[in-house]
Amino acid sequence: MGPIGVFDSGYGGLTILSDFRKRLPEYDYLYLGDNGRAPYGTRSFDVVYEFTLQAVNELFDRGCELVILACNTASAKALRTIQHNDLPNIDSKKRVLGVIRPSAEIIGQFSKTNNIGVLATPGTVSSDSYPVEIKKFSPQCNVFQHACPLWVTLIESNEHLSHAGKEFIRKDVEALMAMKKDIDTIVLGCTHYPVLKGYIESLLPEGVNVVSQGSIVTDSLADYLLRHPWIDSKCTKNGTVSFLTSESTAEFNSNASKYIEGTVNSTHISL
Ligand code: DGL
Repeated sequence: MGPIGVFDSGYGGLTILSDFRKRLPEYDYLYLGDNGRAPYGTRSFDVVYEFTLQAVNELFDRGCELVILACNTASAKALRTIQHNDLPNIDSKKRVLGVIRPSAEIIGQFSKTNNIGVLATPGTVSSDSYPVEIKKFSPQCNVFQHACPLWVTLIESNEHLSHAGKEFIRKDVEALMAMKKDIDTIVLGCTHYPVLKGYIESLLPEGVNVVSQGSIVTDSLADYLLRHPWIDSKCTKNGTVSFLTSESTAEFNSNASKYIEGTVNSTHISL
């Protein structure tokens, strides 16, 4: 038995963990941020897969039976290979889940025009995971994607608040909206982006819905645990949360407060 593992390349997965803790407070969580090697979004398929597998193995070694890839880039580039090729060899009873499928399943319900925008990292966009998955559940929807190569770096370095940072973000949002006039729903397809939600909304015409993944992924996890009681029984429930980072703990502890309430005392790990 062990905590639920939550993995991201950096801080973004904390936006998901924050929702998990509000809705499912009884579970224990172990968060791993690979801040030392972030961002992943501009890295190749092979590198994202290799780094993600290392992180998943670390969380398994620390007792996790269930790991959530709270990172779209890792979900897009590593999840399927880990589920199909690696898990049977590591331990066929352990589980790894991602964040793209739950978001894609439901997003069509938010749109009246059936024109959906996706803002994500270059890695997620080039994988085409969102268009492919959304089409499976909502074939009537058209999906327009725009890659934002600088956003994760801007957010991790706090530069998203600067005038120059805001200009980069504005240009990317405008580029997405220029792809189709009546996009009425935008998925924030990177777990870092919810910190920009208010600013993105201020750039958009009224009535455009900007959707963060936190509550969607949390509903999906709650449902998964109900449908898989044998996994649920392996998740310890003392309401604790611990943090691991591959960067400096002082930096992680201070930056994490942007994404999650409460004091963060992380432990350094080498991956
Ligand atoms: N939070 C990650 C995501 O959801 C960011 C990836 C990166 O490190 O570029 O895609």
